[in-house]
Amino acid sequence: MGQILLTDVRKKFLDYFQKNNHKIVDSSNLVPNNDPTLMFTNSGMVQFKNVFTGLEKRDYKTATTSQKCVRAGGKHNDLENVGYTPRHHTFFEMLGNFSFGDYFKEQAIIHAWNLLTKDFQLPKEKLSVTVYHEDVESYKLWKKIAGLSDDKIIKIATSDNFWSMGDTGPCGPCSEIFYDHGEKLKGGPPGSPDEDGDRFIEIWNLVFMQYEQISKDKRINLPKPSVDTGMGLERMTAVLQGTHDNYKIDHFKKIMGASSDLLKSPINVSTIASHRVIADHLRASSFLIAEGILPSNEGRGYVLRRIMRRGMRHAHSLGSKDPVFYKLFDILLNEMKSSYPELITGKELIIETLKNEEEKFSSLLERGMKILDENLTKVLNKTFPGSTAFKLYDTYGFPLDLTADILKGKGIKVDNVGFEKEMEKSKALARANWKGSGDRSVEERWFKIREEINPTEFLGYEFDKAEGVVIKILKDGKFVASASAGDEVEIITNQTPFYGESGGQVGDQGYIFNSNCKIKINDTQKKMGDLFVHYGKIEKGSISISQNVNLEIDVLKRNNSKAYHSATHLLHESLRRTLGKHVTQKGSLVSPERLRFDFSHNKPIEKDEMTKINKIVNEIVVGSTDVQTRIMTPKEAVGMGALALFGEKYGEEVRVVFMGKENNGFFSTELCGGTHVKNTKEVGKFKVISQSSIASGVRRVEALRDKQLEVYEKTQKQDKSQKELNLKDEITLIKKELQKLKINPDYKDNLNLTENLKNLNKQLNKVKIERVKKDKSKNIIQDKKIGDIIIREQVLKDFPPKELRNIIDEGKKDIKSGIVVVISTFEDKVGLAVGITKDLTSKYDAVDFVKAASVILGGKGGGGRKDFAQAGGVDKDKIKEAFKEISKKIS
Ligand code: ALA
Repeated sequence: MGQILLTDVRKKFLDYFQKNNHKIVDSSNLVPNNDPTLMFTNSGMVQFKNVFTGLEKRDYKTATTSQKCVRAGGKHNDLENVGYTPRHHTFFEMLGNFSFGDYFKEQAIIHAWNLLTKDFQLPKEKLSVTVYHEDVESYKLWKKIAGLSDDKIIKIATSDNFWSMGDTGPCGPCSEIFYDHGEKLKGGPPGSPDEDGDRFIEIWNLVFMQYEQISKDKRINLPKPSVDTGMGLERMTAVLQGTHDNYKIDHFKKIMGASSDLLKSPINVSTIASHRVIADHLRASSFLIAEGILPSNEGRGYVLRRIMRRGMRHAHSLGSKDPVFYKLFDILLNEMKSSYPELITGKELIIETLKNEEEKFSSLLERGMKILDENLTKVLNKTFPGSTAFKLYDTYGFPLDLTADILKGKGIKVDNVGFEKEMEKSKALARANWKGSGDRSVEERWFKIREEINPTEFLGYEFDKAEGVVIKILKDGKFVASASAGDEVEIITNQTPFYGESGGQVGDQGYIFNSNCKIKINDTQKKMGDLFVHYGKIEKGSISISQNVNLEIDVLKRNNSKAYHSATHLLHESLRRTLGKHVTQKGSLVSPERLRFDFSHNKPIEKDEMTKINKIVNEIVVGSTDVQTRIMTPKEAVGMGALALFGEKYGEEVRVVFMGKENNGFFSTELCGGTHVKNTKEVGKFKVISQSSIASGVRRVEALRDKQLEVYEKTQKQDKSQKELNLKDEITLIKKELQKLKINPDYKDNLNLTENLKNLNKQLNKVKIERVKKDKSKNIIQDKKIGDIIIREQVLKDFPPKELRNIIDEGKKDIKSGIVVVISTFEDKVGLAVGITKDLTSKYDAVDFVKAASVILGGKGGGGRKDFAQAGGVDKDKIKEAFKEISKKIS
């Protein structure tokens, strides 16, 4: 029997639990879609968090998964250890079995013991366990089920044996199973002073979920005792492959072997840490990018950037000057694509993002490393100055943990306090520079107003018109008691049906009026989150504070905005379903005229993908289902699968918009404060009309719907017929020219007009070229010799320069060995090309020749390779001189 591979271990685990009535559930995303407080999915239980707490129901009570996890940033963070130990990862897979109020401690222990000792055939004497010190029940169960002796069941009183997902969430006491790698390694059993050694390794954690941590000091019982377990797939594979080093298993051998080859750096004691880092960080980066996270300066994007840059620094330390990560991606893809198809759909985005970031960072890294090295002399007490670390951060893009990682190898620490001080100083400076600028005072103004008055009540979900009382009037940025005809004003009322710009949807327009005045409102903005400010011009009469007014929005515009907003939600979901889960919103504009949507995806949308995207949206539209909105707590919302943004502060209540019925749920579920249609049919016929790339990895589509789409399609049709007429004219002209030359035009009825025009142009061009070549008065060839070398000088009149390459090739064939110089005239330009046969390229360089001659012809140099180079010019009278110059250079 051969070695058991990583993929076999994954399968065996899942198969075992499937056999025992567990449902195999797919890994969820690394970006937890049910928890805005969590940076990344850090364990198998995250996707089941709401099932444990009873908020969510599933149609199974036991489950098993192989879950992709990232532990970098947040409560569980292993970033700084990766590379320096044989078993830390930022990215890894966690195998787990779960019981949601079904079995509890006893069955969990039975399953674990059976799988380990029977299916995986681990010798019993190699295993020991820990239990939480108060958990007498588990202690007894281990004795009963596994027959372990007292010294193999170790009571632990610390948080090591009390597991929690984060600061809040499900938690409970746990029991960990350890494997003894044997005396050859240093380290003691758990709970002993040298427990951190490599000998006794935790391979499985059984958590007996009993509580939910609500806040720092509040913990409640879960509805039913449950089970959550976690086994590191890479670690378990190592045990089964007879090594204690995760990085020596089959999977990592392949990746590290590839990076060792690529970097031409053998793996040995001094390089192993860097090779581990490269392999691990390649995995983490690729999987994060596959979900649409792009490197940036905040939030998840910054964690990704830190991982990527740390990886690049290690590649650099192994001597790599060029980007390497993107070249390694294919090997990872091959290893993991069958379990994780998102790597296939995200392939181009991943490769391009890796490459871009590497290119961006490479020169900064080079220069930053120089500064760092220079400053090593200033290190006192093994502490690196915080100010320099800050400079490296601020100017050279070195995340603080990157600098710390470099210095770690030299036994030097960074002065973190000094770093923070510099950071504060720099922020204070930025604040001070900002003060006094217009923006600052404007923002301060809203601060003050907000402290004085209540939030505006928004009535626009239900009403197009309403009455209100004027609370504030601003004219030229100053408060006034009243304003009159001709004045441009900003008005705040106690309540309004006007939507204030947010979530991509533009603000409403309309009128505010009463018997004394009429104000045309051109825009509405939201300030401080809940102050609605109407921007307008008084057309008639005057207005003062405390007056009652009528507020009426432009309904037509609003209805269009609404429909475009709903279309945007449908489009978003359709893009995700068609292109992959890496599609995440990066920006949007919803106006009464059109919609624009930016999202992470780095290649053009193919024709058939586009057809599918439009089709999905239109199907939901004609499905004519009612759009539902509900106000709920953020917790309930994310529990229902609403897409939530990390770091976004959600209030006590959020609004959730559901569209399109599907199975038991909805086609689209999004947190959104915007206005929407009542029924999807109001969206009307929908179509994406353009796409483009706006930044690396970010694409933009624009779409139209209903009447506007009709108008657009009509103009397109008109444009098309005009274009057709133009093409037809051109074709007639070329046909005539060909006929004049007594050539039969090669028009093909099965091709369209553009293709025919292209072909006819080619035909005409070819004929013209052939004629010139045959005409002795237009094609003048002179061969001569300088020493042993044959030189062909050829002049062509009325000959397009872009065809010169062929002439050179023909000339080279003709003379077999030598140098061919061709100069052509065409309209008011001169073309020059030089070819050198292969046997002479060690002595002569075509680029030198064209450079020298093109200057004489009034051109600007030119370029090419040793055996062929080309340039242009303008001076038809200098042709002889140009030939002479080249001859001079040859001799
Ligand atoms: N959730 C538990 C862990 O991550 C199983 O260790």
